[in-house]
Amino acid sequence: MSTSGIVYRPRRLRTTPRMRRLVAEHRLHPADLVLPLFVKEGLDEPAPISSMPGQVQHTEATLRAAVAAAARAGLGGVMLFGIPAHRDATGSQGDAPDGILQRGIRAAREAVAAVEAETGRPGPVVMADTCLDEFTDHGHCGVLTDGPDGTAVVDNDATLERYAAMAVAQAKAGTEVVSPSGMMDGQVAVIRDALDEAGFEHVSILAYSAKYASPFYGPFREAVDSALQGDRRTYQMDAANAREGLREADLDLAEGADMVMVKPAGSYLDVLRGVADRSDVPVAAYQVSGEYAMIEAAAANGWIDRRASVLESVLSIRRAGADVILTYWALEIAGWLTEGQEGRA
Ligand code: PBG
Repeated sequence: MSTSGIVYRPRRLRTTPRMRRLVAEHRLHPADLVLPLFVKEGLDEPAPISSMPGQVQHTEATLRAAVAAAARAGLGGVMLFGIPAHRDATGSQGDAPDGILQRGIRAAREAVAAVEAETGRPGPVVMADTCLDEFTDHGHCGVLTDGPDGTAVVDNDATLERYAAMAVAQAKAGTEVVSPSGMMDGQVAVIRDALDEAGFEHVSILAYSAKYASPFYGPFREAVDSALQGDRRTYQMDAANAREGLREADLDLAEGADMVMVKPAGSYLDVLRGVADRSDVPVAAYQVSGEYAMIEAAAANGWIDRRASVLESVLSIRRAGADVILTYWALEIAGWLTEGQEGRA
């Protein structure tokens, strides 16, 4: 016994970088990261998104290049969002065979195939957002009807038919994963039925299961030129509720979700942990536009160390239980990890 009487000294395992690396409980890997990408109809050159420094709305050509870069970096997936030139009440471009998102999916699959042929390594899984808000002229995630007090509300069951059509259109274009993000009740079951009926039983569903109504989606509104007035509180979840998030995930699992997601990530790590503890399918988390913007803004002011903050924020999401992480920094992080600059790479 030492004179101090201290028996346990956890600091021993923090002594050197090599020791810390050995005992790290969690690590990031490019294959667990998914890069969200925006493609906009009618653009001649990529348009910067001012509230998301470093991110752009892509043309079809630059989308191809971005997906190829994701493939070379060994990312696990790309998540595509489309911004159409024409919007209407039912979001008809969402399931138009030649709609911008379908064109983006085809371009992404071609880019992945080309890099796979060149490198002999698997490229990113191509995923698509399956939601109407980018395609409707009112900016809501579904079609509207008159609510009990005469104000417009999103019609759950009428919206499900639109999601089913969108999922099939995306599958026809070649998406490997559809990602219903509208928080309509029953959306996973309806989409599964529609995909199976159309012969796409091999296409997976990544369900945005516990998706909260959040101001952290603010910069995304700019990213997709959103027309939304008001909010999404009658369909997305209330930040006060954790138990309800677990119930939403359970329902999606029962409806046949292949993966479930919690979103936003950073403010909902408790929900993420809870879902991870009960899910027997892979769990994803989406580090959303506002989470990105906050760190970029603080770093640009010199108030925090950018790289350390980015890595800590993403590692924390992993530690809380995410198998798959959607983050706008995916490509950059993959670069840092493969350069081996990070102790926890
Ligand atoms: C719905 C969708 C949204 C995001 C992903 N899918 C917007 C919303 O629900 O309001 C937000 C992602 C982000 O903020 O990074 N299409």
